[in-house]
Parts: sequence; C-alpha cells; structure tokens
Amino acid sequence: MASKYCVLYSLILILLICQVSSLKYETITKLQDVLGSGDSYPSQLPVASSKRALENVKVLFAFSHGVEDQEVYYFYNYLIDRGTKQITLGIDYNGLESDVILSDFYKPSYRIPKQFTMDINKVNFNDYDVIYIPGGLPSSSALRNNQLFIQNLKSFYENKQNQEKLVIFMCSGTEVFIQSGIISDYHGLNLTGSPASVHTFSTYLKAHNIPLNTFTSIPAINLKTYNKPRVILARDPNASTQFVTMVSNEHFHLNEKLPSANDFTPLRTKDGYPAGKFYLKGLFEMIPENTILSSLPIANSIKHLMSQNRFLRSEYQEMLADSQKISLIAMSSGVVQREIDQLFEKLKFSPNLSYTICPGWVKQYKNSQIFTFSYPPTQPLKKIICDYSYEEILEKKIPFDNIIIPGGLFSTNAVLRNDDGFLDFLNQAIKQKSKQILFSSSGLDLLLPLKLKYPDNQLIQRINEVPEDRDVGVDTKLAGLNNRRDKKIISLEQITLSTFN
Ligand SMILES: *[C@@H]1O[C@H](CO)[C@@H](O)[C@H](O)[C@H]1NC(C)=O
Ligand SMILES: *[C@@H]1O[C@H](CO)[C@@H](O)[C@H](O)[C@H]1NC(C)=O
Ligand SMILES: *[C@@H]1O[C@H](CO)[C@@H](O)[C@H](O)[C@H]1NC(C)=O
Repeated sequence: MASKYCVLYSLILILLICQVSSLKYETITKLQDVLGSGDSYPSQLPVASSKRALENVKVLFAFSHGVEDQEVYYFYNYLIDRGTKQITLGIDYNGLESDVILSDFYKPSYRIPKQFTMDINKVNFNDYDVIYIPGGLPSSSALRNNQLFIQNLKSFYENKQNQEKLVIFMCSGTEVFIQSGIISDYHGLNLTGSPASVHTFSTYLKAHNIPLNTFTSIPAINLKTYNKPRVILARDPNASTQFVTMVSNEHFHLNEKLPSANDFTPLRTKDGYPAGKFYLKGLFEMIPENTILSSLPIANSIKHLMSQNRFLRSEYQEMLADSQKISLIAMSSGVVQREIDQLFEKLKFSPNLSYTICPGWVKQYKNSQIFTFSYPPTQPLKKIICDYSYEEILEKKIPFDNIIIPGGLFSTNAVLRNDDGFLDFLNQAIKQKSKQILFSSSGLDLLLPLKLKYPDNQLIQRINEVPEDRDVGVDTKLAGLNNRRDKKIISLEQITLSTFN
C-alpha cells in the first residue's frame, strides 16, 4: 500500500516538476546576471593629422536608448582627437526622458547623464555640418518612426545650403536612410548596413526592382550626388576605422591613414575600468557589473503595468482559449516582459505543457539564457531558460498547436527575423492547416521575410495606425503586406495566421 502511494506521490511530484520546469522565470538582480555579447570591436583610432583639424566642425549625434555603445563613443573620441568642440547628443527619448542607456548588443553598458543630452525634436539641424545616425536596436527604430525627426533630416538633406555637409548612417542606422527616402538618390549603387537591416534593405530594393546585389558587405561607402550633402554608409561597429578614415579623407581631405599595428591612437580609457573600455570626462559612464538592475531607468508610462501583470490581452485569450493546445513561444533576448507575463500567466493553467523555443545557438552559446526587458528596453527584468531550440522541435518531432511570437525589437528584428532556419520552420508550420501562429507587436516584422503574399491594402493601414507598432513602418508598406481570407486580425496590434494551405 505504502509503495503504491509512493508511486502515486512520485507521479504527482514528477508532474508538478514538469509543470513548473517549463515557462518559468529566473530572478536576476544585478547587471552581471545578464550575459553580454562577447564581441569585441576596434579600439584603435587613426592618428589625427592635427589636433585642431575639425575644430570648427559642428556635429549632431542622433540616437535613442539601446544604441550600440561602440558606435557612439568611437566616433565621439575620433572627433575629440581632432579638436571638435561642438558636439550635440540629440536624443529621441522615446517615452523615457532620462539618462540615455547605451548597449553592448542588448546588455546595458554605459549611461550618458541627461544633462549632456538634448531633445532631438528641439534641435535645428541646419546648425550642424555633420549629422551622425548610429545603429543599435531599438535606437535606430525609434528614430525611423519619429516623423518629426525624419522630416527634419529630409529638409536638411534637401536644403541647397547644406550641399557641402555630411550625413552618416551606421549599422542599423541605415534604416533611417531608407525610411527618410534619402536612399532614392542612390538607386543602383552599392549600399551597406548591418545584418539587422538586411531585410529592410532587401524589401525596399525588391519593391523598387533593384537587384539585391547592390546591398553589399563593404565596410563603408561614400555617396555623393549633385548639390546634396555627402552621405556615408558604414556597415557595423567592426567597420568603425574604415568609416572614420573615409570621413577624414574623402570629406575633410585630411590625408589620414587606417590604424596599423604601430601607428594608431588608442580609445581613451580610465584606470579602474577594464582594458579597452571607454571613458571620457564623465560623459560616458560605464554601468558597473554589480549595478542593481532595478536602479536603471524605466519608463513611467509602463510602471503601473508591471505591478498589475494579471491582465491578459483579449487577443491571447482568444488564441489560447483551448487549454488542451500546446503553444511554442518563440523568442530571444530583448523580448518584452509585459507580453511574456500575460502568456505565462495564461498557460500556467493549461493541462498540456507549452514551451519556450529559441534558435539553437542560444542553447549552445548562451547557455539557453534569454533576457526579457522593459519597454523601452532600458532595463533587463527576468531570465528565461529556453526549453527547446526550434531545431530540436523538428528533430524530436515534438507535437504542438500554436506558435506565438511576442514583441521586442532585439528578439524579433535582430535575431528571429534574420534566422533563415527559423523562417523555414514558421513557413512549414503555416502550411499545416491545424496550426495557428500569432505575431504580436514587433513580431509582425517576421511576416516580411516569410514572403507571404496578400493582395489588399486594409491591413497596412491598420498596422500603421497602431502607435505601439512603431517597428513595422516602412517594411510592411513596401512588402505589400495585405489582407487575405485566411488571416485573422485579432486586434490592431496582432495578426493570427491560421488554416493556411
Ligand atoms: C571584427 O573583424 C575582425 C577582423 O576582420 C574579426 O576577426 C572579428 O571576428 C570581427 N568581430 C565581430 C564582432 O564581428
Ligand atoms: C560595387 O562594389 C563592387 C565590389 O567592391 C565594385 O566592383 C563595383 O564597381 C561597385 N559598383 C558601383 C556601382 O560602385
Ligand atoms: C495534450 O493535448 C493533446 C491533444 O493535443 C491530448 O491528446 C492530451 O491528452 C493532452 N495532454 C494532457 C496532459 O492534457
């Protein structure tokens, strides 16, 4: 009898363990709990031809939270070395007016105190000689969706007074190059930008019947057209040295050399900071590893949502109404905590287990760790251990009914959207009639590389009307993403695809 109970209790215990072993958060409290990118980028600058070479040049940096750290301090240091005195850090606060958070990939790495920054919407662009737009998500996305910023940039670019000036787009900052329409002066020419902007570029190029081979992996490209400012495109942080050398030589005619083993200027560092970490006059404050995460800035607009995580969006409710169904929640770091809260809360009561899934490399190289973020993503909030890679789901033939792709720009645009294997996985699932797929907020951006075709304009309109869906913008319009009988719009923010053939 006792052993029977024992078996029974063990079974219950096993069931309980299984139940809690899926869809579970782990607490993180300090910055050191968040895994960094592990990337290292150039820390050598070209030697300045003169300490006053760019003394009178006025430079405007335009960025927002989540900007890639290296892409800000490297060019900043380059300018300071050449005597530049007037540098404005113009910030798109994007709902969060505070110190600006610079990131290493997605991990917060530096902060710039608010008093050293200006609201980008209050800056007169014509006062500047150089406009610099670095990359990093969601910084570049915030800019490209800020209509006033785009309008000001366009007027600057079209102003004949500015034809001797310079505009630089770096890495995913090239999305602003596309959104502003400046790209239209350079159809057919070689273009470059980060992997995170490949789909934005290819969607644009395709819509304009321009061969994709004009999008290249060249580190930096110098574009100049009659009576317009010069435009420089830079691929990614690793291309920093090439792009600043291009600025020196092809724009300012300084005759400087690319850094070489025995001829370079190091990035400025300060004692006490790890080698290669940048420090300059208190402007870039490195965020120490022992920083308590909750001390990082967080938008006032969402504070109340975090304390009431019990509300569940009706869209999810509808999809998850059948608690017997197994859902896969596809994500990577940068996913928005608020959405995950709602999903986990709902799925907790399902008799069937649901799973978090991620690309295989997250399991292999990131120890299966996924970090969720506030919105805007200035504060990492929780850690989730990814249950399966999508590759494992296929290999082990794990049955499932739904796939849910929650929002969060880093997760959707920097990782999932660029993973061809994952897109194949989605496409295969879409072809199976019984399965449902839900794209939520920036998850919608995955519809583009899926190359689904829809002939109707209504959906585009509706997506563009959604203030929170600032991330869809240009892509959706250009892709001709449209309505279709078998696609259900559950709300303005979400689309469910089901019963596809
Ligand atoms: C940067 O470029 C160097 C040299 O080409 C390469 O070895 C390194 O892997 C690159 N780093 C990243 C993070 O791309
Ligand atoms: C584009 O780049 C390739 C490779 O560097 C070069 O051969 C070609 O001439 C370039 N095309 C244009 C239009 O600049
Ligand atoms: C899970 O769902 C399947 C149908 O999809 C059902 O046959 C099975 O009994 C469910 N398992 C549990 C533990 O409820």
